[in-house]
Amino acid sequence: MAQFEPRIVAFLCRWCSYTGADLAGTSRLKYPPNVLPIRVMCSGRVDPTFVVNAFRKGADGVLICGCHPGDCHYNEGNYNMMRRFPLVRKLLAQFGVEPERVRLEWVSASEGDRYAEVVAEFTDEIRKLGPLEWAPMMAPPPVQTAESVVTAK
Ligand code: FES
Repeated sequence: MAQFEPRIVAFLCRWCSYTGADLAGTSRLKYPPNVLPIRVMCSGRVDPTFVVNAFRKGADGVLICGCHPGDCHYNEGNYNMMRRFPLVRKLLAQFGVEPERVRLEWVSASEGDRYAEVVAEFTDEIRKLGPLEWAPMMAPPPVQTAESVVTAK
């Protein structure tokens, strides 16, 4: 049987982590190709609904990466994310999603190797958790028309 390959969405801050991911690529570091990177202006821009929507649309894991504390281009964006993160995990737990499926990491522009490590580690962790299969559960219920109610008998 083929090994489960998780789909991971990564929100990467434009100033540090996205550049770090780019460096990992240009340095030809090897890391799993399971991550779909999405560039955001700051980790503080990652609204909890982004995370929920990623899972709703089929992600098995969500990675959020930003500048190291004290290095945020907008001064406090990553501190805001740091405060919001436990709430995001709690929210996911309420929906029945293992909180380990979301991860927050600090990766600077010069840390391509760290980015590769984080991705490899997280991919492995999500692989162990298995597929989330949350998307079908979260699909909106079918719209009932008067005709469908009448013909359902
Ligand atoms: S700009 Fe990178 S975390 Fe804020």
